[in-house]
Amino acid sequence: MSEASPILQATGLCKRYRVGSGWLNVLKSVDIDLHVGTVTGLTGTSGSGKSTLLHLLGLMDRPDQGQVLLRGQAIHKLRSSASAKVRASSIGFVFQQFQLLEELTAIENVLLPRRIACAGQWRSRKTQERESAARLMEEVGLGERMRHRPTQLSGGEQQRVAVARALVSSPPVLFADEPTGNLDRKTGEEVLELLLNLARDRGTAVLLATHDMSIAGRCDSRVHLRDGERVEPPA
Ligand SMILES: Nc1ncnc2c1ncn2[C@@H]1O[C@H](COP(=O)(O)OP(=O)(O)OP(=O)(O)O)[C@@H](O)[C@H]1O
Ligand SMILES: [Mg+2]
Repeated sequence: MSEASPILQATGLCKRYRVGSGWLNVLKSVDIDLHVGTVTGLTGTSGSGKSTLLHLLGLMDRPDQGQVLLRGQAIHKLRSSASAKVRASSIGFVFQQFQLLEELTAIENVLLPRRIACAGQWRSRKTQERESAARLMEEVGLGERMRHRPTQLSGGEQQRVAVARALVSSPPVLFADEPTGNLDRKTGEEVLELLLNLARDRGTAVLLATHDMSIAGRCDSRVHLRDGERVEPPA
């Protein structure tokens, strides 16, 4: 683990949901640090809170308590427009179910975070942004598939588009929630290799939720959840 201060630091994260007349405590004061160039595996049985934690860190949901700092700046309480901008410019997210927009082509999906990040300057930036997205699509092996829509792509190809979309802004942090869970073993292995290589090239801090112990074993460090609490990973 790097001695330098973490790029992302979360402390005391709590999340609870109302269920019927009671509350379900899903995350119980979780602390986590992510460091530049480090891949952290997030493990725990089904229902232990992995996706909930990733959603809080990725600004898709807000904690009930605790804070999330990105480069020392609090980002957990931003208003939705500011939060969307931070997500588009500084946070990559890869989901198990790809989550591509069906009405957009592959390259338009990849460009979406750039459109949000560039906002008012999009018209003047468009050509340059398209060229760099096209280069990234070549890198993920989809140079010949840029104008395909998601339904015209295989599962592995769709996840490659999602990886390119997650990395198009070269974000300092990348979250991946079981990114190979919907792929066969060989395709999953290829997509994982691609994601880790691209992230390592860019020095991105990665937090990768997985049930697959061989994937967890390839990470630089491990965070394990049990019933919403961070505990030592089992040997
Ligand atoms: N909106 C919600 N309302 C109530 N309970 C919820 C809600 N979202 C999640 N939960 C509960 O929180 C717990 C943690 O869910 P989470 O999706 O974070 O688990 P997970 O570790 O990602 O599991 P898996 O490995 O199956 O993906 C689960 O028991 C789930 O039922
Ligand atoms: Mg999950």
